[in-house]
Amino acid sequence: ATPTAILSALAQEQLGLIELLKQPRKLIHAGRDFWLGDLHGQPVVLALSRIGKVAAATTTTALIERFGVRRIVFTGVAGGLGAGVRVGDVVVATDFVQHDLDASPLFPRYEVPLYGKTRFDGDAALTALLFKAACGALQDRQEEAQQGLAPHPYPDARVHRGLIASGDRFVCGAHESGALRSALADAGHEVLAVEMEGAAVAQVCLDYGVPFAAVRTISDRADDSAHVDFPSFIDLVASRYAQVIVERFLRL
Ligand code: ADE
Repeated sequence: ATPTAILSALAQEQLGLIELLKQPRKLIHAGRDFWLGDLHGQPVVLALSRIGKVAAATTTTALIERFGVRRIVFTGVAGGLGAGVRVGDVVVATDFVQHDLDASPLFPRYEVPLYGKTRFDGDAALTALLFKAACGALQDRQEEAQQGLAPHPYPDARVHRGLIASGDRFVCGAHESGALRSALADAGHEVLAVEMEGAAVAQVCLDYGVPFAAVRTISDRADDSAHVDFPSFIDLVASRYAQVIVERFLRL
């Protein structure tokens, strides 16, 4: 059977998934580790995009060309940009924009040249499944916390659905994140979160006709404390979020 690819940016986000993998096999290709195995009885390939759009495009291409995956799901963290998108919340992407792409005046700001478009959609069916999985996973954890079974670090966490912006910058500063958000808004793009890979994966998946969806947990607000909030979230929380969301997703 053709596998589902589960892509993360960093090893810390992937650890919990490798733990769950049955009959794990590691394969090295294009200087990257690919973990093959079964998760909830389904064949999967776990891979790391690494950081940034080019690295993510390479991993995505390898997943499609070398491993023949039939769908790709990204699970990772992002900086919250939208009002009300707080640390611990979850954002499921409806579509993606490259906030650092600017071929103006030849093409409109943010438009990807020769594609005739600025925003790349996630696959609607896959995105709906991921949204359902994220809501279910968060609700489970909140109920566990209410029953005193396991503490939840973000008891009021919410799941959002909307636009994600990707670019080759770690956005770290209230001034920068505000400017980024308002420049995108001026061009008609209300963005919820910022990260460094999603739009690249979406573009490669469009090229190949492979369904793609992404879920990002908010690790920081892309503000003056992002450089502190991000590593602590990555080490302490991200892996568990990925685990519970992916587990639910594969059962749907
Ligand atoms: N991923 C998580 N937080 C981020 C930020 N502030 N900027 C870019 N990518 C991120």
